Amino acid sequence: MIPLTIVSMRRRFYYMKYKFQKAGRLWKGIILASFGVLLWIWVWNSSKSPSSFDETISPGMIFSSKVQQCISHYCNFPMQTSGREGLLNLESHLNQQRFQLEMTQVLIRHGDRAPAIYVPNTDNNNYDFDCTFKTSDYNNKKMFEEYSQSTRHITPHEFVRNVRTSFHLVPTPGSQCKIGQLTQRGFLQHFALGKHMRTAYKTLIDSGIESSNLHVRSTQVTRCVQSAAAFLYGLLTKDAIMNERVTINITSNGWFQEDDNGTPYKCPSLGSRWHQYKQRSDYISGSAAIEPVMQEFSRLLRTPRPSLTTIGFLTDVIYTRYCHNLPLPCGPGGCVSPLLAAQAMDFATWAFTQNYTAIADVASHPMLIQMAKRMFDKTRQKSALKFVLYSGHDSTVTPLLINLGVHDDTRLTPYATGVVFELWRDTLADTSAQKDSADGFYFRVLVNGEEVTNKMKFCGDSLLKDELCPVRELISWLSDGEGFEQMDKKYKLLCSTT
Ligand SMILES: *[C@@H]1O[C@H](CO)[C@@H](O)[C@H](O)[C@H]1NC(C)=O
Ligand SMILES: *[C@@H]1O[C@H](CO)[C@@H](O)[C@H](O)[C@H]1NC(C)=O
Repeated sequence: MIPLTIVSMRRRFYYMKYKFQKAGRLWKGIILASFGVLLWIWVWNSSKSPSSFDETISPGMIFSSKVQQCISHYCNFPMQTSGREGLLNLESHLNQQRFQLEMTQVLIRHGDRAPAIYVPNTDNNNYDFDCTFKTSDYNNKKMFEEYSQSTRHITPHEFVRNVRTSFHLVPTPGSQCKIGQLTQRGFLQHFALGKHMRTAYKTLIDSGIESSNLHVRSTQVTRCVQSAAAFLYGLLTKDAIMNERVTINITSNGWFQEDDNGTPYKCPSLGSRWHQYKQRSDYISGSAAIEPVMQEFSRLLRTPRPSLTTIGFLTDVIYTRYCHNLPLPCGPGGCVSPLLAAQAMDFATWAFTQNYTAIADVASHPMLIQMAKRMFDKTRQKSALKFVLYSGHDSTVTPLLINLGVHDDTRLTPYATGVVFELWRDTLADTSAQKDSADGFYFRVLVNGEEVTNKMKFCGDSLLKDELCPVRELISWLSDGEGFEQMDKKYKLLCSTT
């Protein structure tokens, strides 16, 4: 069969060659030109890629499009900074002027980092994630210089004990990234996010941001403090920071369970809630389904199964490699295959969501109560605050999103995520009659630039124009309908029941 086909193809080729030679000059020209055009289209198409992410993937890596989407969403680099922050969708110009932005509260996740924990027997030491400010890019170089100068005027401060404390705000010197260290990309992500917010919240910032109207809080993990500082540099610029020193309040509480004076919100039942959740049969069967993947890692890494921590940490090694276009991890027993990687990513997403669903309300209510209190103070003109920044981890952001009902269960929370709570005042609302009510004040929530206000579980019918939720609805949700004064009491109650 095959030789016959070849013979007939050869015949056809000679026939076409003969025809071509016999064709006139004009025809020869037309045929050659069409070939040229086809070749050009082919070259152009193959150099154009569906997303910018393709360009950073080495040719050997082949993914399903689902895995690829997960990776580029998670890595979040280059940053998407075309979000809808500060922009109401209201149909007419008149409507837009009617609402005035009063305050913005932002929760960020730190930027791109080196792997979070040491996983035994991987070849991680062979690779680096670039935790320096070395670059040949002129713009980035300039930003690193300006940022480094700014950091002399940014003071980390122990929140509860109210004393100065020291942190490296620029990369710690060293030839290789340390465990969990913020990378160059991580800094760039927060420069970009801060800058984006500077444009989005121009009206707030132009009227002057100073220490009296800016609150900043970070967990005590260096990459979060650095991310906060990088964000502030983007938001405020070097000159503003040099003129007006900025304090970052550092707390040891990863869920910011404390009020603005540092008084903690205790939740004795948190541990037992976790424990109870993990007794559920669907949790147990879900965990059992992960076991074969864990066994496979144990085989590849030649490490006893009990010494491997969680699927989340193993997957972190995979994500960090993907984000930096490095090959999948290998151990003495072989390398992680793309299939195993995809399975691990799926399971890790499930495990993270489960882990944080168990404690979402008790973990994130205090932060939400503080945000609601600040909004309420604004409604009574009792506060000068304009901008609030919290800098934390995925373990900070994910429970909050789950608690609000806006978490996407199919994905992990990306690096440099920004969750925004904007406070808007309706200038036409008559607030004079009822001084104690928050009437006329609304808030709007965005996750990575995307509006989620109408997805929140408690706003429902009270939404104004499908994008503004009355502040009193937030207070009502946090207090079980009992009002502003009762939010703290309700939290105590929530934490005393298991
Ligand atoms: C830091 O915390 C102190 C209370 O310990 C507070 O007075 C101050 O306003 C906070 N500063 C910022 C920038 O959040
Ligand atoms: C659940 O979350 C906690 C807090 O972030 C973390 O310490 C723990 O390792 C997580 N557990 C799993 C199974 O992911």
